Amino acid sequence: MSKLFAKKSISTLLQEAEDSEKGLKRTLNSWALIALGIGAIIGAGLFVRTAAAAAQNAGPSVTIGFIVAAIGCALAGLCYAELSSSIPISGSAYTYTYATMGELLAWVIGWDLVLEYAVGAATVGIAWSEYLNNFLTQILHLAPIPYQWCHSPFQTSVDGVSGIVNLPALGIVSLISLLLIKGIQESAFVNNIIVILKVSIVMLIITLGWGFINPENHTPYIPAATQYTDHDGITYHFGGIMGILGAAGTVFFAFIGFDAVSTAAQETKNPSKSMPIGILGSLAICTVLYILFAHVLTGLESVDFFRDPNKGGEASVSAAIQSAMPGYSWLSKSVTIAILAGFSSVILVLLLGQSRVFYSMSKDGLLPKVFSDIHPTYKTPYKGNLAILVLVAAFAGFVPGNVVGHMTSIGTLFAFMLVCIAVIVLRKTEPNMPRQFKTPFVPVVPILGVIACGAMIFGLGAENWIRLIVWLIIGFVIYFGYSKKHSKVNNPK
Ligand code: ALA
Repeated sequence: MSKLFAKKSISTLLQEAEDSEKGLKRTLNSWALIALGIGAIIGAGLFVRTAAAAAQNAGPSVTIGFIVAAIGCALAGLCYAELSSSIPISGSAYTYTYATMGELLAWVIGWDLVLEYAVGAATVGIAWSEYLNNFLTQILHLAPIPYQWCHSPFQTSVDGVSGIVNLPALGIVSLISLLLIKGIQESAFVNNIIVILKVSIVMLIITLGWGFINPENHTPYIPAATQYTDHDGITYHFGGIMGILGAAGTVFFAFIGFDAVSTAAQETKNPSKSMPIGILGSLAICTVLYILFAHVLTGLESVDFFRDPNKGGEASVSAAIQSAMPGYSWLSKSVTIAILAGFSSVILVLLLGQSRVFYSMSKDGLLPKVFSDIHPTYKTPYKGNLAILVLVAAFAGFVPGNVVGHMTSIGTLFAFMLVCIAVIVLRKTEPNMPRQFKTPFVPVVPILGVIACGAMIFGLGAENWIRLIVWLIIGFVIYFGYSKKHSKVNNPK
């Protein structure tokens, strides 16, 4: 039994980090990390899930949902920063858990992070496909991709057409995987340009859109508690506290990515200093932008507009600009282009995070060796990237965006809770370990982090709890069938 809780010692971890000079290249500084963070953070959560949360959960009070989500992320971010500055090696929450709470929980979190990174990348791929259609029709004046080729088999259009496979989503995740295999340096350069583009477009929408806010759309700001059943027959708590919590769980997706910064620790110069700056810096910038953006978006159009599949139900930001800001069709077109490029950078960072987590798990023997084989020239875990591509493509092509979006949120929230707990445990078990950054007010901050993330999990509802549980059960089957027998910590030579 005790073997299940075997821990990797911190000194082994740090030794591995030093040895990493021989494997992955160290090329990133603090600014590159903030850019990497923003590259991952601003994406489908803001440009697609915000409108979904307004329509399904909270109306204009989605802004309060953003505040709740930001509080949860900030609390967890402070915990991430302590762990990533003390254990600066690849693998994110997975690695920290291995050192603090043992192998079984490390496996649980590593497996859970697949929801965050791989399923998250699929979610963004699906959102990308919505805006691709916008690009084809609005900018190139071509016919849209037929419904059945850009929707999953679980979706049906208002005219009764059933989806078959989401081909654009499949295409974009494949393309980005190939870019990643070529190496992080080129990818980070492209990412920097895209970050500038994305932040500029968000600021333009906030400043230009502010004058077009219709106060009627903001009244009442917090709708009365009721229920809403969408076009696919899914029922949500709308309005009131439950609506805000549901919205927080939904838009929480928009913050995912700041922790992906921590997965690049082995490619970072001076990680103990750069990591906390990268994590908390990117989080702070995005929080301010998000709250303002959500306020403008929900002021431009009504909840009914965002509920209507033929109006703002898809590619909602561009649709709202077209409908509520006459004379600004250039802005709607720029949004579409910025989003197509911007979402690509999100997919890139998420897939990078996923391959690095699998890299670490494979180095530890919990996953087959193929996930840590490094390409001789590109120095990337290329076989792992290809295997991950198959998994991500399956989700992107065949599962609806709403489902993968919620799975991503709930999986990440669960990981964040474990990270908060890890900080408390590590303060007790390794009190003298050097910590370049210390989480303030331990254990209050980590405990509040657990409560905030737990509240959002609660807000996501029973269907998503079940999805998380099923996912974890599949993980246990793999752990007891393969990983436990091959673990290097459990089977020293
Ligand atoms: N935060 C990222 C997004 O919103 C995952 O697309």
